Formats: sequence, C-alpha cells, structure tokens
Amino acid sequence: MGQAKTSAKHLAMHYVATKICQASEIGYNGNLFGGTMLSWLDEAGAAFAGYLCRTPNMVTLKMNEVLFKRPVKIGHHVRIYAKAVHMGTSSLSVRVEARRFDFQKDLEEIVCSTEVVYVKIDAQGKAAPIDQHLRDGMEMRSINELSQRL
Ligand SMILES: CC(C)(COP(=O)(O)OP(=O)(O)OC[C@H]1O[C@@H](n2cnc3c(N)ncnc32)[C@H](O)[C@@H]1OP(=O)(O)O)[C@@H](O)C(=O)NCCC(=O)NCCS
Repeated sequence: MGQAKTSAKHLAMHYVATKICQASEIGYNGNLFGGTMLSWLDEAGAAFAGYLCRTPNMVTLKMNEVLFKRPVKIGHHVRIYAKAVHMGTSSLSVRVEARRFDFQKDLEEIVCSTEVVYVKIDAQGKAAPIDQHLRDGMEMRSINELSQRL
C-alpha cells in the first residue's frame, strides 16, 4: 500500500474505489474531464453513504465546493476515499477525496476533493428518515464504527 502524502485527518478516510483514467476520458488539454471526476466522486460517495445508511435509495442533493488540485492523465490510478461528516434525519454528508497513486514514489497525492450531501428517499422519491437504530448515538464514533466494517 502506498504511503499517503496526507495528514492524519486524511488517513482516517475509508478507501472506496480505484479508477484508471482512460484515453476516452481525456480532454483537449490532456487532462481528465472534470465532469468525469465528479461522476467518480459522486458514485463512490453514494456507495459509501448507501452502505452506512443500509439502503441503496440514496440520492445526491448537494455537492459543495470542488477543488481540482492536480491533473489526472491517461493511465493514472485514482483512488477514492470517503468519510462521513454529518448524519441528519434523512441526510448524510460525506467528504470524498480522489488521490492519484504515484507508482514510482509509492505515494498518493490528492487530486480532487469535495463534500456531498446524500438524502435517503422513499418509494415516492421523498426524503425518508434513515433507520432509527443507525441514527441513535449519531456521534461520529458510531459512524466510524459502521465505516470500519467496509
Ligand atoms: C433529495 C430530495 C428528495 C430532497 O427533497 P427536499 O424536499 O429538498 O427534502 P427536505 O427539505 O425534506 O430535506 C431533506 C434533507 O436534505 C437537507 N437539505 C435540504 N436542503 C439542503 C441544502 N441546501 N444543503 C444541505 N442539506 C440540505 C435537509 O436538511 C434534510 O436533511 P435532514 O433530514 O437530515 O435534516 C429532492 O431534493 C430531490 O429529489 N432532489 C433530486 C435528487 C437527484 O435526482 N439527484 C441526482 C442528481 S441529478
């Protein structure tokens, strides 16, 4: 496992997925399309949120400021990490981070990050409460314990 070029805060995040940048995802400047990166982050965050809330019925409500800090090029391995930052009645806010893995240096560098709010919905598409037993004791300690099972 590569050594992350990150702070302890970042190390507390949970690995969710790896994406490999394809030629078809590259734009005019030779970098990965920003929209593709957003899609990767959204999907990984939704998978993480769905797992924590024990439901596949999570939708993306809001994406906060997105920082495209470094470029991603063809063949780069991009590892996506997530961390729950707040659970409300129907919503879960997730910090998501994409890190480019440098095989030569054996380290990860953050390329993009944001925070996404997901909402659990019912069969009618309305916001629905996350299961009570998951919301009970909603301190981050509990969320982190749930996350450890990933
Ligand atoms: C998600 C959706 C069902 C929420 O409906 P809504 O009527 O806005 O729901 P509510 O007002 O009851 O809010 C639901 C939750 O979102 C939170 N929320 C609403 N607006 C928010 C905002 N601007 N920022 C952060 N959280 C917000 C509320 O606080 C609430 O959280 P809580 O239950 O944990 O307290 C609805 O907005 C929707 O269907 N959006 C489209 C989702 C979608 O298709 N996403 C894919 C991207 S195209």
